Formats: sequence, structure tokens, C-alpha cells
Amino acid sequence: MERIHILAISGSLRRVSSNGRLLRALAALAPEDLAIEFYDELGELPHFNPDLEGSEPPSVLELRRRIREADGVVISSPEYAHGVPGAMKNALDWVVGSGELVSKPVAVLNASPMAAHADASLRETLTVMSARLSPEASVRMPLGAKNLDEAGLAANPEIAELLRGALRAFAEAIKSARKASAAA
Ligand code: FNR
Repeated sequence: MERIHILAISGSLRRVSSNGRLLRALAALAPEDLAIEFYDELGELPHFNPDLEGSEPPSVLELRRRIREADGVVISSPEYAHGVPGAMKNALDWVVGSGELVSKPVAVLNASPMAAHADASLRETLTVMSARLSPEASVRMPLGAKNLDEAGLAANPEIAELLRGALRAFAEAIKSARKASAAA
């Protein structure tokens, strides 16, 4: 069985980020055949500038390589002022023209049930970028006031079940994307 490689991106630059913790809990719950790696360099990307296309800095090329080489991407992002954080949107802007997200299976986790605007906006951006958004794997997590670390999140029965369900659904979505591209 071929291993599935997933790239996890937190939209928060905070050191103690609930979105980062959620992604690390997801990785802790992943089965053997599913490897989750983290992209933690959002804050090192320059602001997107179309003038730099063709002479992109190494940080941008690295972001593109990591997305290209992943079988799927999972994003967990906070909401700021009803929008997607600038750092997260900036990273997406860098791959609009280069196309690494085209047909790429993507799941969006939402750590805050209140944050519906950024969730909808992120999904819209990914859809217009032709990513293969997996609704079954994109779940809202009822973290609420639970200030749990990643081990606590992974040990919480309700959260762990939602995360395991998201992983199962995402693995299925990635396998059917593989079949579709093999048949094309
Ligand atoms: C927020 N937060 C927030 N939450 C929300 O549901 N709607 C919103 O519009 C905003 N706006 C907002 C603006 C700013 C400047 C900050 C600092 C925060 C709350 C924020 O999304 C929440 O604390 C997340 O849990 C932060 O994610 P991390 O950093 O813990 O991953």
C-alpha cells in the first residue's frame, strides 16, 4: 500500500496556536499509511508580487515544491476580522499562477465554530484555484473554550473521533483523485 503524504498548513503565525495544535493532534491520530508533515514557514514568505514571477525567492519555490510533492493539503486557519489571515492568503496567492493546488485534494479544518466567514472565504478561494476541496474531510471542530494541548486534543473522545473521521474521508478523497488522474 502506497503511503499518503499530507502537508498541513496552519494559517496562524502564533507560537501557541490552536490551529497548529489541532493539526498536530491530527498528525498524532494518523494511521501508519498516512504521513503528515508541517509547513511552518508562512511568515517567511514575501508579500505576493506578480513582478517577482519568474524570479521568485527560495522561500516561494520551497512552498510550491512542498505543495507539489504532497498528495493532499490540510489547512486549519483562524479568522481575523471576518477574513482569512493575510499570511495564509498571501501563501495561496503565490500558487495561483504556478498551479500547485490545481486538482490537489484539500481539506479545511475550522477550529472555531464562530469563524464562518473566513471558512467560507477560504473554501471559495480554494475552489476558484481549482483545488479538489473535500467537503467530507473539511470539518468544524467544537474546540470552544477547550484550551487543550495537542495531546489533550488527541485524547478528547469527541475531537479525536472528528479528526479520525476527517482523516478517513481525506484518505478516500486522495485515493479517488489518484485513480482519476491514473485514468486520465
Ligand atoms: C480574531 N479572532 C476572530 N475570531 C472570529 O471568530 N472572528 C473574527 O472576526 C476574529 N477576528 C480577530 C481579529 C484579530 C486581530 C485577532 C487577534 C483575533 C479570534 C481568532 O480567530 C481566534 O483567537 C483563533 O483561535 C486564533 O487562532 P490561533 O492563533 O490560536 O491558531
